Amino acid sequence: MTIKFALIGGGVMGEALLSRLISRGIYQSSQVIVSEPLSSRQSYLEQQYQVTVTADNRQAFTQAEEVVLLAVKPQVFSAIAQELAELLEINGSKTGIRQHNSKPVLVSILAGVALKQLEGAFPRLPIIRAMPNTPATVGGGMTAICAGAYTKAKHQELAKQLFQAVGEVVEVSEPLMDAVTGLSGSGPAYVALMVEALADGGVAAGLPRTIANQLALQTVLGTAQLLNESKIHPAELKDRVTSPGGTTIAGITQLEKAAFRSALIEAVMAATKRSQELGK
Ligand SMILES: NC(=O)c1ccc[n+]([C@@H]2O[C@H](COP(=O)([O-])OP(=O)(O)OC[C@H]3O[C@@H](n4cnc5c(N)ncnc54)[C@H](OP(=O)(O)O)[C@@H]3O)[C@@H](O)[C@H]2O)c1
Repeated sequence: MTIKFALIGGGVMGEALLSRLISRGIYQSSQVIVSEPLSSRQSYLEQQYQVTVTADNRQAFTQAEEVVLLAVKPQVFSAIAQELAELLEINGSKTGIRQHNSKPVLVSILAGVALKQLEGAFPRLPIIRAMPNTPATVGGGMTAICAGAYTKAKHQELAKQLFQAVGEVVEVSEPLMDAVTGLSGSGPAYVALMVEALADGGVAAGLPRTIANQLALQTVLGTAQLLNESKIHPAELKDRVTSPGGTTIAGITQLEKAAFRSALIEAVMAATKRSQELGK
């Protein structure tokens, strides 16, 4: 059967996408090739998902008809780009093993690697840059995508379909990718900090640690679910649960004194700024 989907880098995020693309029937195992240097990892992926595995990125890159997903660490990007560059037609001359007839879309999840760099490395290839976040590994991800110069609507649809397998997807223009990084990229750490602090508060107020942890986590999870399903504004939910002179408004007063909301706003802005600096 034709190979449609190549995964270069079968690590944490690569596997998260792979497992759901197969379990949802978006790709069949026989349509997938995974390129991964570690042999133990190769055997695991082959056994777990019945996909073709290789240590040769060039093989994966040339075989894929539809999508090449680049899921390696950003540090190895230049090495991989160099390795694959000769497979592409550069400056009008064919230097490679096989010219892509169908031109697969190259989807990169490499944090901080800009479309300009990707397009420099893979000339004239349709490219999508994507920024998923860690909850994608459990299917609760938030991914932002932006399209390169040679990308058509069908490529954007393909990329959306990929990331919808691990959560939700939005399209943004590339300059907004730093803000995406500051919010949904770094956001899981802010939320983890909040869960930990809520549990600490529970312990300070006398709850056993395990119960405090459970209460904190389920409160965050349940509130997110409620907001998501009811579509009510967060401020309205807050108003609904604060009775006059009650406990919740006493807690909120303290949060306002400690500049809780301002701290989160500043956190997103600081992370955005740092992402801009790192991208320079
Ligand atoms: N995890 C997240 O939440 C998250 C969120 C947003 C974006 N990202 C991006 O996703 C990418 C992957 O992250 P990850 O967390 O999945 O990292 P990871 O688990 O380290 O996965 C990277 C994989 O690529 C393999 N690899 C290394 N060198 C390679 C080469 N030359 N050719 C082919 N494969 C190679 C690694 O194999 P070895 O183990 O043998 O080195 C590893 O299996 C990163 O660029 C990151 O910026 C991740």
